[in-house]
Amino acid sequence: MYVITGITGKVGGAVARTLLSKNLPVRGVMRDASKADTWRALGCEVAIAEMDDAKALTEAFKGATGVFILPPSDFDPAPGFPAARIFIEAIVTAISAASPEKVVCLSTIGAQAAQTNLLTQRTLLEQALNALTLPVTFLRPGWFMENCALDVASARDTGVIHSYLQPLDKAVPMIATADVGKLAATLLQQRWQGQRVVELEGPHRVSPNDIANTFAQILGRPVVAEVVERHTWEAVFRAQGHQHPSPRMQMIDGFNQEWICFEGPKSERVIGETELDEVLRKLLEA
Ligand SMILES: NC(=O)c1ccc[n+]([C@@H]2O[C@H](COP(=O)([O-])OP(=O)(O)OC[C@H]3O[C@@H](n4cnc5c(N)ncnc54)[C@H](OP(=O)(O)O)[C@@H]3O)[C@@H](O)[C@H]2O)c1
Repeated sequence: MYVITGITGKVGGAVARTLLSKNLPVRGVMRDASKADTWRALGCEVAIAEMDDAKALTEAFKGATGVFILPPSDFDPAPGFPAARIFIEAIVTAISAASPEKVVCLSTIGAQAAQTNLLTQRTLLEQALNALTLPVTFLRPGWFMENCALDVASARDTGVIHSYLQPLDKAVPMIATADVGKLAATLLQQRWQGQRVVELEGPHRVSPNDIANTFAQILGRPVVAEVVERHTWEAVFRAQGHQHPSPRMQMIDGFNQEWICFEGPKSERVIGETELDEVLRKLLEA
């Protein structure tokens, strides 16, 4: 039995669909019972659990061949990452109690970075899972191409996308969530000893100018990328409702200054197949 957290989202859904397509048994973990019927109809067992509920997660993880952990996103974490620490405690407690054969944990590019930033939440999760004795693979993908969902309206309606990634011609490792899900499903079916890091990026690195040009090709009219000046970020993020904008700003600084990067030789590297064009077409159709 493969147990998939975050199954109602992009990556978890792709993991589950890949396993189901091979007639492998899947138990989907979700917090919202109203989403259960969709997954039952596809042949899944369903377990209801919040990611901070160790007891419910333990029940969900029991009897698993492999567990896929998708930690919830928090773009506005308080100092010291207290909310992430609660999720980590629950996840580690449940894995220790249920003792699945192996775990594949979605982490991120840059989880090894020493500087504090938004992704420190994943550094902490990796450290906590590294203390366990069972086989764990940390899947560290690049920047999700689906983050371009935030650019769709302005590309289509104004011909401009506003970029925190800069300079505009600097290419960044990016990946489609479908490829992240497919690789996670493959990893869940593998056998390995101890801890392992697998890094994943798409077939080509992508710059903000590439994103604008790809929107332009699909829309058939000009689209340009414009820099969001660094000194305006805090005000922009606070206007969006952030109470703690620093970690998100530090993360983007990390990409721009390249200290958020792949770890390299110590890890395995996989190249996905989905091109940016395919992802942007789907986002424009949605
Ligand atoms: N964006 C990037 O560039 C990037 C890069 C590398 C790694 N990542 C990682 O990718 C992950 C996000 O994946 P995604 O794009 O697939 O996200 P997504 O589409 O937003 O899905 C998130 C999933 O997590 C579930 N969830 C959220 N909070 C939960 C909670 N408290 N308890 C139980 N379930 C909860 C959601 O359930 P509901 O349906 O109920 O909301 C949903 O199934 C994050 O861990 C992030 O760190 C992102």
